Amino acid sequence: MSIRGVHISVKDLTHRYNSKCPLTFEKVNIEAEPGEALIIIGRSGCGKSTLLHIIAGLLATTSGTLLLNNEVVKKPSSRWVMMFQAPHLFPWLNVEQNVGIGLKFAGWPKKEAQARVAEAIGLVHMEEFAKQNAQNLSGGQQQRVALARSLVMEPELLLLDEPFSALDAFTRTALQKDVRSIAKELGINIVMVTHDIDEAVLMADRALVMAGSPGKIMHDIRIDLEDPRDREDPAVQSMRANLMQMFHDASHVPSDDDPSDEVAADGDMSTLHSV
Ligand SMILES: Nc1ncnc2c1ncn2[C@@H]1O[C@H](COP(=O)(O)OP(=O)(O)OP(=O)(O)O)[C@@H](O)[C@H]1O
Ligand SMILES: [Mg+2]
Repeated sequence: MSIRGVHISVKDLTHRYNSKCPLTFEKVNIEAEPGEALIIIGRSGCGKSTLLHIIAGLLATTSGTLLLNNEVVKKPSSRWVMMFQAPHLFPWLNVEQNVGIGLKFAGWPKKEAQARVAEAIGLVHMEEFAKQNAQNLSGGQQQRVALARSLVMEPELLLLDEPFSALDAFTRTALQKDVRSIAKELGINIVMVTHDIDEAVLMADRALVMAGSPGKIMHDIRIDLEDPRDREDPAVQSMRANLMQMFHDASHVPSDDDPSDEVAADGDMSTLHSV
């Protein structure tokens, strides 16, 4: 597979769902170099998924510009692919068939498609399950297949909206490592949304803290840590503490008796909600 990433340029992006709604977010600016992994963290409702949908070309912006390699993004493309929390596989198709579906629709010759599919399945370490039906796989295995289905199209940018949040801790850790190393190997960009500070520290080159209503990017922090990253490494833990502090400051988590503080203390912010 060829190596490629994309220059991302988001300028003064502002969004509103309709004239009766308040602004979802306002004047969001992001620049990213080819191959960079950006992780967006922020409280529920601050507009993270909306921003990701706009970058994917699934939703129009209200004002501002979004350029990928200097091209305006107007619609979805196999060059920037989105992965969701649920893998959305065809349960009656096997792993190879699921992974190859995009190539089939694109009219690829069978032999070349087979080679590409095998390569993508290898990248996500699912070779031994290639002939298994998707419905017989675990959640983590299905998410690996969904990842291979995205990679087979040779994207420049992978957009991930909390893709591991339904998985158990072990599966999640393995996928965090693999997604980062695959993206680095292929040189592709990642923009990922998560509620999990640990995930941001383990996977990001830069973490963007989004907060407020309308949402804004409050911090843009370089996560300058060596790979492979280990949760127990003091440098990782210290970065996690910094990021947690920034998250709290940005979102004005108020007091000791705020029950959401307890949840945030273990790094998972999935139950934090905007006030
Ligand atoms: N289709 C829609 N029409 C109107 N408002 C919407 C629509 N989708 C989302 N919103 C609103 O826009 C805001 C941002 O939603 P979004 O889903 O982007 O937040 P989020 O940061 O991804 O939240 P979460 O962490 O809970 O996934 C929310 O207030 C939400 O209620
Ligand atoms: Mg969301």
